[in-house]
Amino acid sequence: MSAPVIEVRDLRKVYGSGDTAVHALRGLDLTVARGEYLAIMGTSGSGKSTLLNILGCLDAPSSGNYLLDGIDTAEFGEAQLGLLRNRKIGFVFQSFNLIPRTTALANVELPLVYAGVRRKQRRARALAALQMVGLVDRAGHRPNELSGGQQQRVAIARALVTAPAIVLADEPTGNLDTRSSEDVMAILDRLHATGRTVVLITHEDDVAAHAQRVVRVVDGRIATGVAA
Ligand SMILES: Nc1ncnc2c1ncn2[C@@H]1O[C@H](COP(=O)(O)OP(=O)(O)O)[C@@H](O)[C@H]1O
Ligand SMILES: [Mg+2]
Repeated sequence: MSAPVIEVRDLRKVYGSGDTAVHALRGLDLTVARGEYLAIMGTSGSGKSTLLNILGCLDAPSSGNYLLDGIDTAEFGEAQLGLLRNRKIGFVFQSFNLIPRTTALANVELPLVYAGVRRKQRRARALAALQMVGLVDRAGHRPNELSGGQQQRVAIARALVTAPAIVLADEPTGNLDTRSSEDVMAILDRLHATGRTVVLITHEDDVAAHAQRVVRVVDGRIATGVAA
């Protein structure tokens, strides 16, 4: 087996302190192989989003190790983590998180702006990403001119425009109807089929069934010994 792309050991995350401290992750271990398709399930409040935010370098753990591509992320500062995230990770949120007052194309181009890609190449790559999710003809539309399913597909185009090795999705179908959910899952399946590591959080069994492996988070740890 190839070296794991994600390796997490004894991960802990505490929000706040003292009497009001919330222990969101309590010594979580997880290994994800390169190219794997993993679903994370668990009840609300069990720590799933906290975990995914750390995996996506959007947040740092309170303690424990997170090795991304064999590199200990604790050695990185804020700016370097931002670079790592931009280069390796595409993130998809339940609530799409598109910028409202700008076009689909501009939303998809944004990560390339941060990456310093020139305008002409930016445009070409953003259009290719929109093509991949079947929305080139909506490139000039703003988010409020698109359906929820279309907005999520734009968000996926934005996540994949940098050609990340890892796609992380936090309940990507949570706000979508059945038909749009199927469209989104078909795209994630394709991303996996073309070699990407996909980690997705979901409440729904039929969504989790797309993954090769399902783990369950219970009270800030991966449940062991039970079928998920
Ligand atoms: N920014 C935050 N500040 C304080 N508590 C938080 C914060 N984010 C999450 N929590 C708490 O951490 C626990 C785990 O939350 P979360 O990771 O969002 O769970 P899940 O995604 O599984 O529903 C919950 O008790 C939640 O209220
Ligand atoms: Mg969550």
